[in-house]
Amino acid sequence: MKWLNILGLLGVISGSAFAEGISVKAADPARNCQNCHAQIKSRLHFSDGSSQTLQVDETQLNDSIHGGRLGCSDCHQEKWGNTHPSVESRSVRDFSIKQSETCKRCHFAHYTRQVDGIHFKLLNQGRTDAPTCVDCHGAHDVKDPKNPRVVMNRKCGACHKEVMKTYENSIHGKGLVEANQDHPLCIDCHGAHKIEKSDEMNFRVSVHLVCGKCHGDAERMKKYNLNPNVLSTYLDDFHGMSNQFYQTQGKDGAQAKKYFATCTDCHGAHDVQSLRNKDSAGQVRKKVIKTCVSCHKTGKDWLADAWLSHQKPTRETAHWVWGVKKFYSFLIPLIMAGLLLHILLHLWKLRSNRSKGKQK
Ligand code: HEC
Ligand code: HEC
Ligand code: HEC
Ligand code: HEC
Ligand code: HEC
Ligand code: HEC
Ligand code: HEC
Ligand code: HEC
Ligand code: HEC
Repeated sequence: MKWLNILGLLGVISGSAFAEGISVKAADPARNCQNCHAQIKSRLHFSDGSSQTLQVDETQLNDSIHGGRLGCSDCHQEKWGNTHPSVESRSVRDFSIKQSETCKRCHFAHYTRQVDGIHFKLLNQGRTDAPTCVDCHGAHDVKDPKNPRVVMNRKCGACHKEVMKTYENSIHGKGLVEANQDHPLCIDCHGAHKIEKSDEMNFRVSVHLVCGKCHGDAERMKKYNLNPNVLSTYLDDFHGMSNQFYQTQGKDGAQAKKYFATCTDCHGAHDVQSLRNKDSAGQVRKKVIKTCVSCHKTGKDWLADAWLSHQKPTRETAHWVWGVKKFYSFLIPLIMAGLLLHILLHLWKLRSNRSKGKQK
């Protein structure tokens, strides 16, 4: 007991020595870090009163993706030499953020992607609650993030609790069942490193493409008996058209909602629900009109009728639209052909006039 207390005290003393840097008596660079760190009882103390264990379980490292590849000093480079440099961090969190800088030496490509994302920007602004590499991947226990992918999804959910709760109860939340790769996880819509702020222009004007990756994939949709034309019909109607027009105009993202509707305005982002089974036809209609009215203040029943939903116009569902489309698909080629014929005849006439002139 006394022995533990002494070590504990040592921890306090060494930990409070941020300024000088503690001397670790080991001249040999090949010393075994685990001689000390396997059973060290003292803790690392910080000026804000928080502390951190110094014990390292080497089996964690061996079982990690770095196991057998990296030694302690590959990451803790500054620990070579006779002394441990002083720890200047003020808190456990601060320490963790500094330590995670080590990853970028070998994974620079991922680091640069991270730098472009919202999390890194927040960290730079002093938001210490934003994640570093270590929060998502771990430090000594880094595992393959792609296998199984849901583990990472839970990491996102640990910080974004409200979003996670909503998502879990959505139809997409089935993606949490590990074997199922058909449903979207957080990273399918947001990416992993270069995560954009969700109300940024770039994100909003391209959300439909994210949804379309799966909902335009006929094979995947067939499994669930879902309409694979939702993207193409969206792009063909006024909402999709105005979206594309908006993109080329490069207008302000915060204003975008006024100018066009995208998939998530009607379906939600994290609370996407099936519109098929549980609602009777009447209730679906009510829900439709409610969404529409959020933008179309004058929305009445006729508005929903004026919209073709995600159906391609057919003779049965929308005979007028179908008729006009058919008429144009006939008329436009006819006009083009007429135009071409006109030019050809003109050229022919020109040529015959010239040859007549020569004969004279
Ligand atoms: C003689 C025992 C001893 C050896 C050998 C040793 N350490 Fe330490 N280590 C300590 C003590 C004591 C502390 C607490 C230092 C403090 O409070 O500033 C510490 C702190 C640390 C820390 C956290 C604080 C910091 O400075 O970042 C890391 C990381 C660390 N050691 C890594 C290593 C690595 C890597 C090796 C091998 C290259 C190693 N240590 C070898 C005793 C040792
Ligand atoms: C892949 C890089 C990597 C390797 C390899 C690695 N470390 Fe670390 N280590 C880190 C990072 C990053 C942290 C900060 C962890 C945190 O904030 O939770 C850390 C933290 C520590 C700490 C502070 C206490 C703690 O657990 O957070 C000690 C001590 C330490 N490492 C020692 C070691 C020793 C000893 C080895 C070899 C057996 C080793 N490390 C191997 C990256 C690494
Ligand atoms: C000294 C170089 C080095 C450092 C520092 C380092 N790694 Fe690695 N990392 C590697 C190597 C080597 C691999 C294995 C790559 C492979 O299998 O192709 C790897 C693999 C990975 C993988 C899996 C990659 C994949 O393709 O599946 C992840 C995730 C990862 N590291 C994260 C980290 C994190 C997080 C840190 C910081 C705590 C870190 N690494 C620090 C060298 C490093
Ligand atoms: C917000 C969580 C998060 C943060 C922060 C994060 N990553 Fe990742 N990382 C992921 C996820 C999720 C994946 C898996 C991506 C996938 O499945 O496509 C991943 C994949 C990786 C891979 C393997 C990629 C591959 O293509 O095989 C490496 C290496 C990696 N990250 C390194 C880093 C480094 C270095 C940092 C810090 C600069 C970092 N990550 C920060 C979540 C994160
Ligand atoms: C360590 C905690 C933590 C983890 C892990 C984490 N985030 Fe975040 N994330 C934050 C914080 C904090 C913010 C800033 C929120 C705010 O300002 O309200 C943020 C912001 C975001 C934003 C931008 C929000 C906006 O206002 O548009 C998105 C999107 C996001 N995170 C997605 C993810 C995804 C996806 C993952 C997993 C790959 C993830 N986060 C993992 C803490 C975390
Ligand atoms: C199907 C695609 C999709 C999935 C899956 C998804 N998101 Fe989102 N997320 C979005 C969209 C789109 C927005 C923009 C908000 C909107 O349009 O209503 C958003 C907004 C956000 C925001 C900022 C706004 C807010 O509600 O706080 C955060 C944070 C966020 N997502 C985190 C996550 C996390 C964490 C997960 C996983 C649990 C996740 N997202 C899964 C599409 C998705
Ligand atoms: C990774 C693929 C994937 C992405 C990305 C994706 N979804 Fe889905 N979505 C699915 C699958 C698979 C189902 C079928 C779920 C089931 O029935 O179990 C589904 C179901 C739906 C449904 C319910 C259909 C019904 O009536 O039953 C709607 C609505 C929907 N998604 C909208 C969206 C929107 C909006 C986005 C973009 C913000 C999106 N999805 C992104 C795969 C995806
Ligand atoms: C203007 C609102 C609105 C927009 C924009 C919108 N949807 Fe829909 N969507 C609906 C309504 C309402 C229904 C159900 C009613 C119906 O089709 O009869 C529906 C149905 C669906 C279904 C179910 C199809 C089926 O087979 O039952 C999916 C999947 C879907 N939408 C995905 C998307 C995707 C992906 C986008 C963007 C590319 C999108 N929606 C854009 C309102 C919208
Ligand atoms: C996020 C806002 C938003 C939502 C939600 C929305 N719309 Fe629209 N809608 C618009 C905008 C903006 C236009 C104007 C596009 C243009 O003029 O190019 C438009 C145009 C239309 C038009 C063409 C006639 C007109 O007034 O310009 C119809 C019809 C229409 N929407 C029906 C619907 C229906 C039905 C729903 C619900 C299923 C719906 N909209 C939901 C924003 C929205």
